Amino acid sequence: MSLLEVNDLSIRYDVGDDDVHAVDGVTFSIDRGETYGLVGESGCGKTTLAKSLIHLLDSNGYIESGEMWFDGTLPRWENERGEPRREIIDDDQYPVREDGMTDLAQLDDEQIRDVRWRNIALIPQSAMNALNPVYKVGDQIVEAILRHEPHTPREEADQRARDLLERVGIEPDRADDYAHEYSGGMKQRAVIAMAMACSPDMLIADEPTTALDVIIQDRILDELDELQEEFNVSILVVSHDISVMAEICDQLAVMYGGKIMESGPKKEVFQQSANPYTLGLKNSFPTVKEEQSELVSIPGSPPTLLDPTDKCRFVDRCPFVVEECHSSHPPMYGVSSGETGRRAEADDPQTHRTACYRVDELETMRTEAGKEETWQATTQNR
Ligand SMILES: Nc1ncnc2c1ncn2[C@@H]1O[C@H](COP(=O)(O)OP(=O)(O)OP(=O)(O)O)[C@@H](O)[C@H]1O
Ligand code: SF4
Ligand SMILES: [Mg+2]
Repeated sequence: MSLLEVNDLSIRYDVGDDDVHAVDGVTFSIDRGETYGLVGESGCGKTTLAKSLIHLLDSNGYIESGEMWFDGTLPRWENERGEPRREIIDDDQYPVREDGMTDLAQLDDEQIRDVRWRNIALIPQSAMNALNPVYKVGDQIVEAILRHEPHTPREEADQRARDLLERVGIEPDRADDYAHEYSGGMKQRAVIAMAMACSPDMLIADEPTTALDVIIQDRILDELDELQEEFNVSILVVSHDISVMAEICDQLAVMYGGKIMESGPKKEVFQQSANPYTLGLKNSFPTVKEEQSELVSIPGSPPTLLDPTDKCRFVDRCPFVVEECHSSHPPMYGVSSGETGRRAEADDPQTHRTACYRVDELETMRTEAGKEETWQATTQNR
């Protein structure tokens, strides 16, 4: 069952005459207890998308259109004594669907404050540098608990903070240390512990392993995996490294220029990639398990998101361009193996889908995308 359904979401930043179209018509869904990966190059809109879910966009950012339906068991139903807040439930204006899902996009500031931490917790990009240097790490977790559960006695919050640290592999006594006494991996774990403080339904981890060495990266990923299993929490992981994502995700979405180019079950997206951009991205990262002789980067740079034109976002860097690619950005086509007539638009965001007009020529594209000269030719054509 879906915990989150995002439909046709567009987010912009107001920067003057033209807006930055940071996220453009994105649709995806995350099930309860699922790990969903969002991958793509720097600047493609990953952080914007993640932060928009809990209205933490920069002040010039805004949701232009779209829906973000979230499973209805939100803390707004309770007051500080855990009693239902009837006046809100009875409000006809409240954005609740018949099945109990709530549209996060329509919540006001007070309502979304209830959702943050208690329902959806964010581990922000570069979070480990954000621990406050002048407070003990344990106190920072206690503060997070008390801010969202003010009725909890301090001693109980203190014990919970120590338990949480222990849960992520840090000795409870280290709660009395300051952040500078922690290693990079410990800081990242402490931030994960803090995010879990209120047992959220969903954890958003924005680049949780960037800046960590490979061994620590692996441990952090294992940690997230274990938390997901133990607490049945859904995790939205954001990364630019598709190999990292292939390790831990159930579902994967590949973003480029504010659009989802390919999405679906991780295995299918990673092993039977169906979009030229995914194929290019895979070439440029070392895989953990398979042998790979050399890395091939995608020549060129991502498109401007300032008022983008309506052609395929990848058109300037794609080695497989045909005339149709210049007409408009492709819809999401279903990717099904071996069937004739497979070029049909697919609605279910959990199935394997690709935004590419050449979805019927996958085998050729896969073979060609593995060759360095294919990508070099793109540069020469430009
Ligand atoms: N406050 C802002 N004002 C204007 N443009 C912004 C703002 N914040 C982000 N952007 C732009 O929006 C686009 C998406 O940015 P975002 O940070 O979401 O990308 P990202 O995929 O998370 O990148 P990275 O991998 O570098 O973290 C980029 O073009 C970025 O320059
Ligand atoms: S639609 Fe065209 S430009 Fe876009 S990814 Fe497919 S082949 Fe490349
Ligand atoms: Mg980011």
